[in-house]
Amino acid sequence: MPEILPSILSADFAHLGEQVALVEAAGCRMLHVDVMDGHFVPNLTLGPPVVRSLRKVTKLTLDVHLMITDPDRYAPLFIEAGADQVSVHQEVCPHLDRTLRMIQGEGAKAGVVINPSTPVSTLEEVLGVADFVLVMSVNPGFGGQKFIPYTLDKVRRLAALRRDLGLKFAIEIDGGVTQDNIGDVIRAGVDWAVAGASVYGKSDPAAAYQALQQEANAALAVRV
Ligand code: DX5
Ligand code: ZN
Repeated sequence: MPEILPSILSADFAHLGEQVALVEAAGCRMLHVDVMDGHFVPNLTLGPPVVRSLRKVTKLTLDVHLMITDPDRYAPLFIEAGADQVSVHQEVCPHLDRTLRMIQGEGAKAGVVINPSTPVSTLEEVLGVADFVLVMSVNPGFGGQKFIPYTLDKVRRLAALRRDLGLKFAIEIDGGVTQDNIGDVIRAGVDWAVAGASVYGKSDPAAAYQALQQEANAALAVRV
């Protein structure tokens, strides 16, 4: 079953626990947590203390997306704070194999992220190591941006590689996912779709989450 992952980047940080409880009560299973360091991306968000606080109030799988230049240093701190899965950007990991194995060794699922301009081919060797691959469908740094359509070709290529190589990594997409494109996203091969503005930017986040999840489930029924 495909999963919609609400991104707390668009949530009301003054009421974070309540905002998370809203989607959890609506049936959500995974939550996306965006970590930005002001270096890798031109924005700043949150650190391990926020993950630790979230861990205390929710059973949702915490999917921590590290948009930071030094994930080797900080990934263990996020895992210790309660992250279930951590993704790192290919663009900042010269020893990507080592970084992914380090995350797994610390007890979390390990994901690798590629920016829109980073080719899928840069990942071919580590596809058997990573637990999941996150395809950015916007340039990272901000919520509420427009979906970049060519990133769906990258998803299709990854799905084909997964099939041809007999691998099991999950495919995640992040950025600009809406009710209008979620069907195409799932049909292209995405398992986990992040949605920030289309959930927490709406007046009723629970209903917005459910509408996206329903559309995703319906699209999976026709995926080949
Ligand atoms: C962007 C972040 C995304 C962001 C997506 O840099 O990585 O996770 O929250 O937000 P929307 O869905 O609004 O594009
Ligand atoms: Zn993200």
